[in-house]
Amino acid sequence: MNIIICETAEEASLKAAALIANAVRTRPETVLGLATGSTPLRLYQALIQAYRDGLDFSRVQTFNLDEYYGLAPDHPQSYRRFMNEHLFNHLNLKPENTHVPDGLARDVAAFCTEYEAKIQAAGGIDIQVLGIGSDGHIGFNEPSSSLASRTRLVTLTQQTVSDNARFFASADEVPRHAISMGIGTILEAKCCMMLSFGSNKAKAVRAAIEGGISQFTPASALQMHPNTTVFLDEAAAADLEMKEYYRWSAACP
Ligand code: F6R
Repeated sequence: MNIIICETAEEASLKAAALIANAVRTRPETVLGLATGSTPLRLYQALIQAYRDGLDFSRVQTFNLDEYYGLAPDHPQSYRRFMNEHLFNHLNLKPENTHVPDGLARDVAAFCTEYEAKIQAAGGIDIQVLGIGSDGHIGFNEPSSSLASRTRLVTLTQQTVSDNARFFASADEVPRHAISMGIGTILEAKCCMMLSFGSNKAKAVRAAIEGGISQFTPASALQMHPNTTVFLDEAAAADLEMKEYYRWSAACP
């Protein structure tokens, strides 16, 4: 794992965005894996700016990690709507090249198999953007998820329901289920970038980076991935035992 500690979330987001923009510039048919939530918002703004500055996204394909199960695509809290509003509507992506799990899929197992097949048909994910939940989840792979899991229907933990209640009128309205890429699916991406900001993530970040690989901290599976970069602000990095080493190593020519 390559650990980049920045003074601010802004700086970290811009660094991550620059890597993505460079990949799209070099290979216009780059396949991006995308996350929702508050963490990647600044990164998405930077990609929109890159588009306004001339970067072409017309051949890029995107696959989102997850979607609440039971929410229609136009529901104000659906992840499809989030992506349209915060990224897709502002780039020249072809709508048919943007993929978000269908929260209303009737045959969920068939849908999930097809989602995986579409990722394969696109040539696999080149860069997977990830946030981390305060319980260590990536996508909606909650603690105890199999490290070999594939796209499937999952049940959210009470922690995630309460963390995400801020976006809904009340915790009761937060769906209890989601369709999520599995940890095995995520690990097949050629490059993963996990971003994490704020002191409420410090414990999960430490467990993911410096704890043992365990299904109880799903993000720790990234330790097995050959090309993962973690972008942190100071607050999220606060509990890391080896943070001075990560800084030193990042500064080494
Ligand atoms: C969302 C996702 C989740 C979030 C995580 C952090 O698509 O995959 O794993 O990345 O819950 O959420 P925020 O960024 O809101 O703290």
